[in-house]
Amino acid sequence: LKPVSIAILGPGTVGSEVVRLLTAQAEDLAARVGAPLEIAGIYVRDTSKDRGPNIPRALLTDDASALVAKADVVVELMGGIEPARTLILEAIASGASVVTANKALLAQHGPELYEAADAANVDLYFEAAVAGAIPLVRPVRESLAGDHISRILGIVNGTTNYILDEMTMRGLDYDVALKQAQELGYAEADPTADVEGHDAAAKAAILASLAFHQRVAMDDVYCEGISAVTSEDVIAARETDQVIKLLAIAERTADGVAVRVHPALVPMTHPLAGVHGAFNAVFVEAESAGGLMFYGQGAGGTPTASAVLGDLVSVARHKASGGKGPHESNYAEHEVLPIEAA
Ligand code: NDP
Ligand code: HSE
Repeated sequence: LKPVSIAILGPGTVGSEVVRLLTAQAEDLAARVGAPLEIAGIYVRDTSKDRGPNIPRALLTDDASALVAKADVVVELMGGIEPARTLILEAIASGASVVTANKALLAQHGPELYEAADAANVDLYFEAAVAGAIPLVRPVRESLAGDHISRILGIVNGTTNYILDEMTMRGLDYDVALKQAQELGYAEADPTADVEGHDAAAKAAILASLAFHQRVAMDDVYCEGISAVTSEDVIAARETDQVIKLLAIAERTADGVAVRVHPALVPMTHPLAGVHGAFNAVFVEAESAGGLMFYGQGAGGTPTASAVLGDLVSVARHKASGGKGPHESNYAEHEVLPIEAA
């Protein structure tokens, strides 16, 4: 069987785990796809830097465009807007399918990327971009496509949940908890994105776009992070049997759609109060399905790699046997309703 050739862009916290699992589970993955998955190369800025035992030096390259041009599937795990955007567009133009965990990019340039993928008839999958290991994008994008989603509410950022949880449960200082979240591989390269709520806002924009079949951009999301939350706030919340959580809420209203991210007081008895560490939990309310709850590890290299590999298996199956996933650019044809800030 002809192998499906994979380009990995960015062997960091998530990318290095994807490479490790691709190697360790090569036989199983080949059986699931119907063809072997072969790593064509791994793009880095500096090929001389040692990247640990999981990353074979022989596969490293600093020529991203040449790597992308020879791949059947490009897995983008660098983060940031550029060069990720340009390389994904190059991949699509050369007929490769794309898997990415890059919520910042999708929230800003999603329409351009979806339209390019649809025009080229290739897949663009991004399960890992929202809520780490939790299967959430696919249920909202595909499983609930025949329903009417009215509301999505939950915790979608692991770093801030970790920080607030450590402050609440162990009395840790904000700065100490943030440092730990960075060491554990939960935080973004620039953790401002986590603590100021931008990462959660990007995820909320992606989920709202999928759920409500209209474009919701970052600028449409009211966004307030946790950098102003103090130990005194956390203690005061506990004294009234509440905890502080950073919530993302996207809902249909009488006038359109409202999407917001902000810290909120959650009663101890509410299921969201029991979401500890870097776990995420998301409630989805749909007309026919009713209420659904999604819960699991929202950040970290290995859990996120699970979501990336799931996407990789799906798009590689399509490459091996023909076919394509959802056509996202159809959204461009929908009427865009007015969006309320909060
Ligand atoms: P890291 O910072 O750990 O890794 C990023 C990797 O990409 C590094 O190998 C880095 O190389 C490389 N890289 C970054 N910029 C460039 C560039 N301009 N050119 C070439 N290589 C580059 O990030 P993560 O693995 O944590 O995150 C990757 C993506 O996954 C991001 O989009 C993030 O939002 C997303 N994500 C992360 C999760 C997590 O828990 N960590 C969970 C869900 C999604 P170098 O080592 O040389 O700097
Ligand atoms: N920095 C992100 C978080 C990674 O803490 O949730 C997962 O998307």
